[in-house]
Order: sequence, then structure tokens, then C-alpha cells
Amino acid sequence: MHSGDIRKQFLEFFASRGHAVVRSSSLIPDDPSVLLTTAGMQQFKKYYTSEADAHKDFGSLNTASVQKSFRTSDIDEVGDESHLTFFEMLGNFSFGGYFKKEAIQYAHGFITSVMNLPISYVTIFGGSHGVQKDEESRSIWNSLGVSDVREEGIDDVFWGPTGSSGPCGPTTEIYCRNAKGQYIEVWNIVFNEFFYPGSREELLSGSEKKLERLSTPGVDTGMGLERLAMIAQGVPTIFDTDLFNDLFDQFPSTLGEREHRIIADHARGACFLISDGVRPSNKDRGYILRKILRRLIVFEHRAGEAMNLFHSIAPLIVGKYREAYPELHLDTILLEWDKEKAKFLKTLTLGLKELQKLPTINEKAAFRLYESYGLPYEITKEIGGERAQSLTRVGFEKEFAHHQEVSRAGAEKKFGGHGLLLDTGELKAKDAAELAVVTRLHTTTHILQQALRSVLGTEVAQAGSDITAERTRFDFTFHRKMMPDEIKAVEDIINDVVRKDLPVSFLELPVEEAQRTGALYFFKEKYPDRVKVYYVGESLDSAFSKEFCGGPHVAHTGEIGPVKIVKEESCGAGTRRIRAVLLQ
Ligand code: ALA
Repeated sequence: MHSGDIRKQFLEFFASRGHAVVRSSSLIPDDPSVLLTTAGMQQFKKYYTSEADAHKDFGSLNTASVQKSFRTSDIDEVGDESHLTFFEMLGNFSFGGYFKKEAIQYAHGFITSVMNLPISYVTIFGGSHGVQKDEESRSIWNSLGVSDVREEGIDDVFWGPTGSSGPCGPTTEIYCRNAKGQYIEVWNIVFNEFFYPGSREELLSGSEKKLERLSTPGVDTGMGLERLAMIAQGVPTIFDTDLFNDLFDQFPSTLGEREHRIIADHARGACFLISDGVRPSNKDRGYILRKILRRLIVFEHRAGEAMNLFHSIAPLIVGKYREAYPELHLDTILLEWDKEKAKFLKTLTLGLKELQKLPTINEKAAFRLYESYGLPYEITKEIGGERAQSLTRVGFEKEFAHHQEVSRAGAEKKFGGHGLLLDTGELKAKDAAELAVVTRLHTTTHILQQALRSVLGTEVAQAGSDITAERTRFDFTFHRKMMPDEIKAVEDIINDVVRKDLPVSFLELPVEEAQRTGALYFFKEKYPDRVKVYYVGESLDSAFSKEFCGGPHVAHTGEIGPVKIVKEESCGAGTRRIRAVLLQ
């Protein structure tokens, strides 16, 4: 079965069983406590917790999707037969529509009847951390004729939570055999019975935080398309499936099989990340993209000066996936590639020369190579070979973190010296008059973000903002140009909030509690233990807008006066930029 048919059959199977088919969300998640989308359930988190109403939004309590996903946890393993960074996850979800019996029956039906694959064995949760052994799933499997049911522990068969908190619960997994006779985990079926108010690490380490029962238990399932295609197509590795195999003809014979697989994985991941609006940088997801791009550049470099590998495979990747993911944008992908390559090549040659001179390479040396020549850890480790034997990622990252602390302290010292009255990075004002204007524009920016989300949906997330006394400039994720009537609708909402003269206040809360309020925020690591949540409205619960923010803001929205959006433009694939000004 061709991978395109698997996607189609999967969605049809669930659509004909009362599921609403929902498009993949972006790789840049809605949930700011995670860097990238790693699972199909992420876009549905708030339906499990009853913060949103699935029936209202999808016309059903059950949904199905094929979700673009990107995991960095296995990045060092990529190059073997089975690990990937980017992958597609087939999933069905229920938010109170059905539970264990139907979920297991559907999965069993799809695997055995649609895919025509025998199930080798399944796993269930053996019980721990105050959660009982999942005997119910065992008996459902038995009733379907699956008798090999194995008990596993919390590490393997208890999903979640993703990010800083969320739904979680025991899982049951389906294993099938591949062409080499290996048992492969094909499908993970999660029973979201709990909410955990902390991270997975906290849960596993037995923190004081307790699992809370969700009022309505839900179902979340995930099945990797690549693995399923491998088994369905009877090929020995995921790289032999139709999702990859024709790419390999393009690869230089001077590089080995492992390198070929890394190139295939990273090139595919880069195409998707760039098309979703990620740009190479030195932090967060931008750093992940930069890492994989630079690794590809090194491979290209090693394959020979004349090699233009990425330019020959990116069009193949885009061609292969365009039907399923029309957001893939070849011109932008190649443009970003060319820019990063031009930037990196200058120093790469020097860095490699320097690396070759070193008799041994420890984390300090590796960090120096990174800092001076931009050589990522993977490249130093890879090219350093035996000389870098003692170098570990953990050691390198420690060195990196230490350096960041030192440079942050330096930046703070510099801060007072440049003649601005206010410079938060986002807001700039040189005197009291400007400060008053940027304060009004700052509150405008919060209202603008919420208005955009109301008109365009929750795909909108802040990608950056810059406020001067002239205007606010707000960058946000969105996949297309805004229509004139949408711009007008956003402007009307802002001016309506201004006219209502709503109070603007803040509450200072512990960070977890602040996250639970539904306020918008960036990544949790940037925040101290207690944060301020600014809200526009009479109370936090009824607020029109709430965001983690340090201020300053106006006390009442009426102080802002009329607002006009003067420009809406692209600032990269998947990212738009709005400029808005005050009229008075
Ligand atoms: N959320 C579960 C997973 O990603 C289904 O494995």
C-alpha cells in the first residue's frame, strides 16, 4: 500500500465511524511550553481538559488527523534503521465520545482488516504511581482474539504529559513484525484519564504533584506512518519505503549508508520546519533547524565542492508531500538554505582546519569551535572521531549553558548605557513622552494578538514584536495573507475594546498557576517562579486578553484612542507582520 493510500484509508476509516477529520496543525505548536509539535494530541489538549468544546468546534466529540511531528529526543540515533526527527503521526482522538472498548476495537479493525496485518502482541499498563493495572484493556484484547497481552511499566506504556502540564494516562500498544522478523511498535493508544499539573519528568521522579482525574476520560492514539508503511510494504527499514527510497539515488557514493539516512531525515525535516515558519537562529526551535541545516551543509561539503545536494533533493521532497501538505514552499526552503549555507561556509573551512589540529577534543574545545566557527556539536563529534571520544552532548550543553549565563550577565551590564529610558527588547522609548506612547501601543499589541486569534484562529501565535513611539510591529504565525475584511474585522475588535474602556490589570502568580489561567506566554524557561499575568477586562476569568508580561500597560483601554492597522505583509513563510499606529 502506497503511503498516500495509507493516509487516505486511515482518515476514511475514522470518518466513516463518526470522526471529524482535522488538518495537521503547524510544527510550531499552540502550546508555548513545548518547542515543536511532537504528537497529534497537542492541538487537542484543551478538549481533554474541557477548556474547549469539541462538539462546537468539530461537530463531533471524535476527531482523526495525520499530524506533522518533530522529535529531537532521538536526534543522535538518526542514521540507524528506524529513528527519525520529522515523522507523520496518524491518530484518532475522542474527548468523551468513546473510551477503551471502541478505541481498541477500531485499532484492531484497522490493522487487521484494512491493513491486513497480523498483530504479534499488545502491551498494557502493569500498574504503578497509584494507577491500577489495566485489566479492562486486557479483556477487550482477549475478546478480539489477541491473547498475547504483555504488561509494561510507566516508562513504556504511560503517555504524557507533554510540556509543562497536561492530560496523560495509561496506554496499550500494538506490535507487528517487519520483513526482518523484528517486532515493531506500530500503534500507541492512550487513555487520557488524568491531568498532571507538572512535566513528565516530575511525574516519573515522583514529585509531590498528584495525578488528578479528568472529568471525562479521553482517547489519544498515535501511529507512525513511516513504520506502518515499512510493515505494509514488506521492506526492511523505513528508508526503503516509498516515503524515502527514490531520494537515495541522489546521494553521493562517497558518503556511507548512515550519512545517507541522516541526509534524508534532516532534509525532509528542514523542508517542513522552514515551511512552517521556523528560521535558523541560535535559540529554541531556530537552533534545532540551524543544527540540522549545518549538518547537511557539512555533508555536502564533505561530498565535494561541486555538490549541490540539497538543491537536488528538496524539490523531490516537496513534490512527494505537496498534495498532503500544500504549505510546503520550495522557493522559501531553498532561499533559507542558501542564506544559511552562505553564512556557514565562510567559517566552516576554518573551523574544520582548526578541529584537525586538535589532538583531543573535550567539551571546552568543542564549545570554542562552536562559538568561533559555528561548528555544531554533532559535527565536531562526528569529524573528531576518536579524538572526540570523551565528548558528550550533556558535557557540551553544560558548557553552552554556562556561557549563556555569562553573556546574559554581560548584556544586563551594557543595558543602562545606551541612552534609552526604556528598552525591554520589545519596547523602546527615549523619554517620558515616548514612554507614554509605547505604553499605549504595548496594550494595543496585546489586544491585537487576541483580536487576530479571534478572527484567524489559534494558529496565530506571537513570533516577535517591536514597539517604538511610531508604531507597534507585531509578527505572528499564520499561513497566508490576510484578507482585507479580516484586517478590518481585527481593527474593529481593537477599537471596540478601546471604546469599552476596559480596565487593564495584572495578577502575580506562581508560574504553573499562571499557565493554567489560559494566558498566552512564550517558553516556560524564560519565566521566573512567579510571573505577572496582564489582563484586559473586569476579571481574569472574563478577560478579553491575558498574557504573561512584565508591563508597562495603560490602566484603561480608553487611554489608547483609535488604532489603525497600516500594513499587513509576509515576513517569511508561515509568518506575517502587522504594523499598527495610534491615530491620536
Ligand atoms: N500521544 C501518543 C503518542 O504520541 C499517542 O505516542
